[in-house]
Amino acid sequence: MNDAFDFLVRKDITFLNFGSFGSCPKEIFSFYQKKQLELESQPVSFIVEDGINQLNNARKTLASYVHCQPDDLVYVTNPSYAINTIAKSLRLKKGDEVLSTQLEYGALIRAWNYYCEKKGASFIQQRIPLPFSTSDEVVAAFFKGCSDKTKAIYISHITSATALILPVEQICEEAKKRGLITIVDGAHAPAQINLNLNNLNVDIYTGACHKWMMAPKGASFLFVSKAHQNWIDPLLISWGYQSDNPSNSLFIDYHQTAGTRDFSAFLTVPFCIDFMRRNNWEDVSDKNKKNTIDWALRLMNRFNIEPISPISPSFLGQMFAIPIYTPDCVGLKQRLWHQFNIEIPVTQLDKRNFIRFSIQAFNDWEDYIALENALQALEKSGFLKF
Ligand SMILES: Cc1ncc(COP(=O)(O)O)c(C=O)c1O
Repeated sequence: MNDAFDFLVRKDITFLNFGSFGSCPKEIFSFYQKKQLELESQPVSFIVEDGINQLNNARKTLASYVHCQPDDLVYVTNPSYAINTIAKSLRLKKGDEVLSTQLEYGALIRAWNYYCEKKGASFIQQRIPLPFSTSDEVVAAFFKGCSDKTKAIYISHITSATALILPVEQICEEAKKRGLITIVDGAHAPAQINLNLNNLNVDIYTGACHKWMMAPKGASFLFVSKAHQNWIDPLLISWGYQSDNPSNSLFIDYHQTAGTRDFSAFLTVPFCIDFMRRNNWEDVSDKNKKNTIDWALRLMNRFNIEPISPISPSFLGQMFAIPIYTPDCVGLKQRLWHQFNIEIPVTQLDKRNFIRFSIQAFNDWEDYIALENALQALEKSGFLKF
């Protein structure tokens, strides 16, 4: 671990889990605290006026960063909030289906199951074969799950446990040809990959800013294309409904107002975008991506493992999932933390397990060595198999 960009994360550990919740550089966190102080020093004018103006500007800046219209995007606290909003509102009849994959994020599988069950619909988790070799294979496998009952598709742009960049452009294009609503969970996408919502044929998209954009926790967004804004109810009805002071967008009025809350994290997002611009973040990210591929290739060779996808920039960003077998994910994770000082997630999917490493600017070669040594020791003592 090194001090590059002054991230707040501890440097006396091996932190290989930036993917779960990110971590702020000190400069970004200080800006966030300044916003919180601003709020507390005059809460009334901040919450009712100044802050709202800043929020509208912060929304415009983020919209320009992800390439969409400012009135098609609203800040929400997290991707779960965004997907709950959508799944609850989606007009599904008894027997309808939402097509998805087995690779989705657990909390949101639960959300979809909950709302589909309530409506008598089904959430279909179509199996994507692992390993796969091409994006065409993924697309073909996915649409095998499509039927005349399918109304919408829901997929991750970058999967959680398996850290795969899915071919969402191809999938959305095909889904639109079939007349389906396209919903993408891009929690991991902003700033891990170049996100251009204009180029994606996507109706609904959520992304987290508190992961790879390095914003403080609780900054995410929900994008909805104009054609779909009219059927989406706010998760929380507040002053934006029948607003006394309407803007020119019902979508923004409905979803931007959510009772009293600290929206300082949202206001920090433009600062994060500026931080990335000032620090040539595309170069930083490219270096991290190169290291991800390098580490992945070394580990696959070192332990003779078959990866679940080609080790290539088409499928990998700054995270990689090492396929392993363990009888005890929780125990293994604790062992990695307590015995080896390594923060890294261990997950289960389809009777297989994955250890997912993330690479951020503060990670270096020493971290790779620490991980390789720990895996070797744990294999030797029987806690995991490859
Ligand atoms: C694919 C995916 N979706 C959503 C989330 C996060 O959702 P939330 O912050 O709402 O818990 C994650 C978190 O890692 C994720 O990997």
